[in-house]
Amino acid sequence: MFEVRPSNGLEEYGNAIFGIGQYFGARPDEDRLLRFSKVLEIQRMHAALEDGEVIGGAGAFAYDFSVPGGTLPCAGVSVVGVYPTHRRRGVLRALMDAQLRDVHERGEPIAALWASEETIYGRFGYGLAAWAGDVKIAREWGAFARPLERRGQVRFVTPEQALDLFPPIWEALRRERPGVFARTREWWELRTLRLPDDEKANPKRFVALDLDGETQAYAIFRTHTGFENGVSSARTEVIEAIGSTPQATAELWRFLLDIDWTATFEASLLPPDHPLFLLLANPRRAGYRMGDGLWARLVDVGAALSGRAYAGDGSIVFGVRDAVCSWNEGRWKLEDGIASRTDADAEIALDVDALGSAYLGAVSFDQLRGALRLEELVEGAVQRADALFGWRPLPWCPEIF
Ligand SMILES: CC(C)(COP(=O)(O)OP(=O)(O)OC[C@H]1O[C@@H](n2cnc3c(N)ncnc32)[C@H](O)[C@@H]1OP(=O)(O)O)[C@@H](O)C(=O)NCCC(=O)NCCS
Repeated sequence: MFEVRPSNGLEEYGNAIFGIGQYFGARPDEDRLLRFSKVLEIQRMHAALEDGEVIGGAGAFAYDFSVPGGTLPCAGVSVVGVYPTHRRRGVLRALMDAQLRDVHERGEPIAALWASEETIYGRFGYGLAAWAGDVKIAREWGAFARPLERRGQVRFVTPEQALDLFPPIWEALRRERPGVFARTREWWELRTLRLPDDEKANPKRFVALDLDGETQAYAIFRTHTGFENGVSSARTEVIEAIGSTPQATAELWRFLLDIDWTATFEASLLPPDHPLFLLLANPRRAGYRMGDGLWARLVDVGAALSGRAYAGDGSIVFGVRDAVCSWNEGRWKLEDGIASRTDADAEIALDVDALGSAYLGAVSFDQLRGALRLEELVEGAVQRADALFGWRPLPWCPEIF
């Protein structure tokens, strides 16, 4: 038999994190654990133990998360892993159960995660809630469709300068799009802007784009040199490129795609409505490959639905099935932007993971109906739900956490 509880002390925390470390990397040393504990509290790392020995773990960052028209406290689920010696004995299920109960008690109405495999989290009520994809743009296909008048200036900045300049742009993205989590100063310092010793040979570079007297865009990138058959095969890896205005975003991408010596520009996690696709003259040549991005879980259906904005004032009654968080089960009426329990007949019946898919606006109820993921019990209900939930721009989470 095993038990699941929040980790107790740094050693147990490290052993619980080593659940995912078994597959994704080495055992973290003490320095790394201390750093990590500043962004993921020790108490928020659940450990599974058998006879006092850790056999798995699951963690949750506590951050604010942008939802359509607002922001909500969210559990950013991460570092989930079960030791290979104890697989398929229900350890993950027990961890998920304990974690979701904890998230609920803490009053975080939603949880979000990046899934290593798409097959794992649906059973725990997570739905595919944002699309993300990669591009690989060969230098010769980097031209824009329209001439771009460049008015800004790009400059290299140090991590210290970036710590002042980048966060306001990230915050602007949070106001513009659902799916973006708030980064604390520690997150910026210890994760985004940190230059680890083992990357010293080829460190991340930071640039800021100044326009109209203020910094309006930034990029984090790295170049990987290469030379094959007498020509460059170098890659520029765009780790993060964000602008707070369309002009700044366009100028930033022009800068990146013009970096000399690069044969191929690569970027990942881009949403399908990223401006780059219409800036490019040959979007087809970007080879966009889209897949699942963020997964979302409504931990408190009432609070989550009441916490986002809607495109209209109509109403809809959902019959929600939730085998894991049974407090969500039943009928919920969404009216004038507020969700409350109701005795009225359900108009759409669905599992909570399907509602999670629709929540940020990336997946429509019509799509869910097409994929047999909901039952429309009253004709026209799906169309009505889509008129309420539809949201632009699409969600975008630029970082895997
Ligand atoms: C994924 C992982 C955590 C599962 O742990 P586990 O303790 O073996 O899972 P459980 O025994 O609790 O399984 C619970 C259910 O999920 C299913 N399941 C578990 N892993 C699955 C997977 N990778 N794909 C599909 N189904 C999976 C089980 O079959 C079981 O289904 P059931 O409830 O219908 O019987 C573990 O395999 C692991 O650590 N994998 C590598 C690291 C990883 O990918 N972590 C996730 C990071 S996002």
